[in-house]
Amino acid sequence: MIEVVRPAARLYGSLSLPGDKSISHRYALLAALSEGVSELQHFASSADCHSTLGCLRDLGVRIEVEGDRVTIQGRGLRGLGPPGKMLDAGNSGTTMRLLSGILAGHAFESSVTGDESLRRRPMGRILEPLKLMGARVECGDRELPPLKIQGGRLTGIRYRLPVASAQVKSCVLLAGMYADRPTAVLETVPTRDHTEIALEHFGASLRHEAGWIEVEPEPRLEGRRLEIPGDLSSAAFFLVAAALTPDSDVLLKDVGLNRRRRELLDYLQRAGMAVSVENECERFGEARGNVRIQWRPAFLAGALPPIRGNLVAALIDEIPVLSVLGSQVTGGLEVSEARELRFKESDRLSALARNLRAMGAEVEEMPDGLRIRGGQRLRGADIDTRGDHRIAMAFAVAGLVAHGETRIHAAECAGVSFPGFFDALRRLTRD
Ligand code: S3P
Repeated sequence: MIEVVRPAARLYGSLSLPGDKSISHRYALLAALSEGVSELQHFASSADCHSTLGCLRDLGVRIEVEGDRVTIQGRGLRGLGPPGKMLDAGNSGTTMRLLSGILAGHAFESSVTGDESLRRRPMGRILEPLKLMGARVECGDRELPPLKIQGGRLTGIRYRLPVASAQVKSCVLLAGMYADRPTAVLETVPTRDHTEIALEHFGASLRHEAGWIEVEPEPRLEGRRLEIPGDLSSAAFFLVAAALTPDSDVLLKDVGLNRRRRELLDYLQRAGMAVSVENECERFGEARGNVRIQWRPAFLAGALPPIRGNLVAALIDEIPVLSVLGSQVTGGLEVSEARELRFKESDRLSALARNLRAMGAEVEEMPDGLRIRGGQRLRGADIDTRGDHRIAMAFAVAGLVAHGETRIHAAECAGVSFPGFFDALRRLTRD
């Protein structure tokens, strides 16, 4: 499906975002392993989170979905059953990597595959620690999916994460619940800590010491009633859109503000954007609040701080839309040490360079980043999204400030994280 985006004069109004994708995955997985029933309110509408629910159903979990409320009948820590068919994680790396940690602790054989994009994403990063823990895991050529997992009792390990990845960290911590002694991970670059927070909430015990995060095996997880905040990574598209269009004023309601995700807000503030947080509170260990953004004329005359080092992991899902922003602020944007972006739903460095150039921007693509020249007038173009949701939504934002029409191809991929994105954008834009 092609979505056509036209220039907008202004963004105005308020918006509630779909439930946070990362948190929804984790709550669903832990609810399935709990004793008793869990009720998850404002569960993500994203196709990815529904892939997690689909896999859990195939593993024998009873799940009811009514609008954005999901009720899960827990089956206990070792209660998943052999699936009897290949599990399908769809487009979702989080589903495949986190679920593999759990399957490694179950004494049956299972296989997990995904769509064409997921079958091109590296799995060696989870295979290594799972094998060290004693799981028998096989994969296709070049450590790509599908994965075949023969689980059972695991050995606890102490594992230094070689990549900055919350998915790998989570995979190891989840597998650690099935080990014969505590399992610990050390991350040199901090990544989102939703798994740690959720594990403790469902009743697991974690210890934090000198950077190591250690999980006690054999926890008794208890079903919970939880409410998921809006997704800050989805909010990012509206924050950037409002920063780019004169006189914009947008309120994003009840957004997740996890300390490892909210760097986006600090980053935009450092760049001179008028972003504020209202009514901040904490529920179930996760911070949340309303985020307001108002257009500020001086903002576009500045520069964006370079994205490198720890900022890459902190902004990993926002770099596509920040790259669009970079082409509009006078000082441009340099992204480096970000080779991880080549292993996302698409090779995002290549997709960004190519589509920005199609819109008339000047971009240098480096092996680990992008150098984007600032202050460029974009022109409408045909956008090759490569089926990547964040590329589709980032270039929809670019279309708001481009001259002429921007045609987003395969735009339905936005539903991977944000079904209804284009309607929400239309609702807030004023011609
Ligand atoms: C996620 C972690 C990140 C992020 C992805 C969601 C998670 O991936 O890009 O969208 O929920 O743990 P990596 O762990 O591969 O960095």
